[in-house]
Amino acid sequence: MPKKIKTPRSPSPRPFLYRNRKLYCDGADLTTLADKYGTPLYVYSASQIAQRFQLFERAFASRPHTICYAVKANSSLAILRLLAEQGAGFDIVSGGELERIRRVHRPSLRKVVFSGVGKQIWEIDAALRANILLFNVESEAELQVLAARAEALSKVARFALRVNPDVFTETHPYISTGLSEHKFGIDIRAARAIYRKTARAKWLDPAGVSVHIGSQIRKVDPFAAALTRVTSLIADLRKDGHNIRYVDAGGGLGVDYGTTAFDPARQVEKYAAALTKGLGDEPAHLLLEPGRFIVAQAGALLTRVLYVKKNGTQTKSKTFVITDAGMNDLIRPALYHAHHEIVPVKRPAGKSPNLVTVDVVGPVCESGDFFARDRVLPTVKPGDLVVLLDAGAYGMSQTSNYNTRPRPAEVLVDDATTRLIRRRETMRDLLAPELSRTDN
Ligand code: LLP
Repeated sequence: MPKKIKTPRSPSPRPFLYRNRKLYCDGADLTTLADKYGTPLYVYSASQIAQRFQLFERAFASRPHTICYAVKANSSLAILRLLAEQGAGFDIVSGGELERIRRVHRPSLRKVVFSGVGKQIWEIDAALRANILLFNVESEAELQVLAARAEALSKVARFALRVNPDVFTETHPYISTGLSEHKFGIDIRAARAIYRKTARAKWLDPAGVSVHIGSQIRKVDPFAAALTRVTSLIADLRKDGHNIRYVDAGGGLGVDYGTTAFDPARQVEKYAAALTKGLGDEPAHLLLEPGRFIVAQAGALLTRVLYVKKNGTQTKSKTFVITDAGMNDLIRPALYHAHHEIVPVKRPAGKSPNLVTVDVVGPVCESGDFFARDRVLPTVKPGDLVVLLDAGAYGMSQTSNYNTRPRPAEVLVDDATTRLIRRRETMRDLLAPELSRTDN
C-alpha cells in the first residue's frame, strides 16, 4: 500500500517557500540545515516527490499503466525507496541502477524496464536473472546478444524495440533523441522486419514497443505524434501474429525552470491527453518513464557564498559571487546553459531590496564553472546562504569529483523531519580506489 500523502489538486511547483523572510523546504528551515549538515547540500522534499508521482498515477488512472521512474534523474536510494512505496516501477540504464533497485525493494525488480544503447553482457545477465519486466532494445546487434544470453541462462527475455519515430522536439540538442540523426533507437520503418525475424527465437518474447523522444519537452504535441506512429506499428505487429502487451512512451515531460506561473497538475493532464490522442483505443499496458518531472522541483542545492569580487575596469566591470558549490556539484548550467533560479535563504527586508547584476560562479578552475551570468540578485556577502532551485533532477546524479572535490551531502525533508540520506564524502572516500598511495 502506498504511504498516504496529502495531494492538493494544484500543488505549488516548488516546496521552497519563505516564512518570515526565511526560506524553508516544507517544515525545515534551510539555515538550520546548512548549520547542521554543512554546504553544499542537496535538500529534497519527500512530499513533493510523492505528489508528483501521484499526478501521473491519477492522470492515467483510466488505462492500465505503470509509472517507471527514470532512475538516472536522481538515483538516491532513499528517493527510490520512497517511490517504490508509492508503487512506482523503474526505468534503468545500467547494471548499477538495477543494483540500486535490488537494494531498495526487491519486488520492484518485476517492474523494471531496461533502456540504453550500450548494454553490456553482465548487465543483460543481471537483468535476466532479476526477471525484469522489459528490455528496451536499441539495435539489431543488441537483440542478438539478448537472444544468446536468454538462451544461455534459460530465461525468456521480454523485449520492446525502442523505435525512433523521427519526431522533432524543441529542447536542448544534447537531450533531444527522437530524430533519425540521433544514436537512439531503431528506425521505425525497419522495426517490423526485425520483429518478424524474432518469430523463431525461443527465448525472445516480443512483448512491446517503446519510444522516447527526448527530455525537458514542454509542448506535448510531439508526444502525440510519436505515439500515433508507434500505435500504427503495433497494429502491424499484431497482424504479423506478435502478442504485443506493452507500449512504453518513455519520459521527457519538461518543467518550468523560470518564474512563470506553472501548474504541474495541469501539465500532466495535458500530457495525458496528448498520449491518449496518440494511443487511441490501443489496449496495451502503458509504461511511462518520467524522471525530471517527478524530482526536479522537489530539490535544491544549498550553498554558501565564499567571496564576492569585482573584475575588469571601471567602465566595464563584473561582479562575481563565488559559492562553495561548483560545476562538479551541479553541471546543468555549464553543460546545457540551463537556467536555475537562485534565491537568498534570508530574504532582504523592504519592498525594493538592493539589487545587483552578478555572475554566480563556483570554485572550480574553469570559466565554464558558472551557475548564472549577468543575473539580477539581491546583494549578498560572504557567509550568506543561497539556493539553486529545481536541482532535484540531474543534479546529484551528474556530480563528479572534479578538482578532487567531495560530493555534497543530501537530506530528505519529510514535513518537519529531516533525514541525512547521503553523508558528505570524505577525502578517504575520494582516494580509496587509488593504488599508488604515498603513505610512508
Ligand atoms: N527514458 C529514457 C530512455 C531516457 O533516456 C530518459 C532521459 C528518460 C526516460 C527520462 O527523461 P525525463 O523524464 O527525465 O526527461 N541530463 C539532462 C537530461 C538527460 C536526459 C536523459 N534521458 C539534463 O540535466 O537536462
